[in-house]
Amino acid sequence: MAKNKKPNWTKKDLLGLEELSKEEIEIILDQSESFREISERTIKKVPTLRGKTVVNLFFEPSTRTRTSFELAAKRLSADTVNVAAASSSVLKGETLRDTARNIEAMKVDYIVIRHASSGAPYILSRTVSPAVINAGDGAHEHPTQALLDMFTMRRKKGKIAGLNVVIIGDIMHSRVARSNIFGLTKLGANVTVCGPKTLMPVEVEKLGVKVTYNLAEALKDADVLNVLRIQNERQEKGLFPSIREYVRRFGINREILDKYAKKDVLIMHPGPVNQGVELSQDVADGLYSVILDQVTNGIAVRMAVLFLLSHKKAK
Ligand code: CP
Repeated sequence: MAKNKKPNWTKKDLLGLEELSKEEIEIILDQSESFREISERTIKKVPTLRGKTVVNLFFEPSTRTRTSFELAAKRLSADTVNVAAASSSVLKGETLRDTARNIEAMKVDYIVIRHASSGAPYILSRTVSPAVINAGDGAHEHPTQALLDMFTMRRKKGKIAGLNVVIIGDIMHSRVARSNIFGLTKLGANVTVCGPKTLMPVEVEKLGVKVTYNLAEALKDADVLNVLRIQNERQEKGLFPSIREYVRRFGINREILDKYAKKDVLIMHPGPVNQGVELSQDVADGLYSVILDQVTNGIAVRMAVLFLLSHKKAK
């Protein structure tokens, strides 16, 4: 697909994968493919979004997502501004709505938002005319993470449909898990979720996934393991007895993989990794780990999202 020819894209915002069709997800993945090569060039810049402005509005910490959006915008020649909640007028009592309307008044084209409250990007999308991109809202969705996960799986395994993907860990508090489930099931993957009962959302199987509390059973036919971080910042205390107990029952290490998993199972993690808790260092750095490929691919995926949302906005 040519880089500067817009495919048939109609949405103003990217809020979640729940509301995207299979075709829309495939448009983003195909577009990402055509942008990936730009990051391999000596001069990593094309003029596609020259004159556009992207504001990164982050109310929660981030290393990967914020940097990745900034690099994606810069590689497309857009201007970028980072607003961190700790240094914004939110501390003086300004509402999210007012913050966004003031940013809009500066004639920006995109607002990329991360917020601890589920639904915050949806409020912005109804309030302001710039394209709104959800960079993670509470435990709800993290669409670009799931898109880069799927993009990485597709590149490594050649397809998504029919893949056995296991998501392991703190499913209940994970926006990455929810977005992966919405995206992967739409693209025809067989998704299993595995973790402690206390970290499993009620009726999660209604999202079209298989549920197991037994790691050995989950690993048996897996093509991909997407291992999640324990979301301590979103948890009440006491949802599992101890970190030691969690590691014993759900930690992924070489011994467990050798015993129960396919030899070429792909190891993924959205980051940041709690080394030695959900994933051992040797597996995170091992032959079938694609954790850093995910980070690299994230830039191409975010370039694709910025590009696709760059057409005329509907207020
Ligand atoms: N995967 C992810 O969202 O990482 P950051 O919190 O560093 O952005």
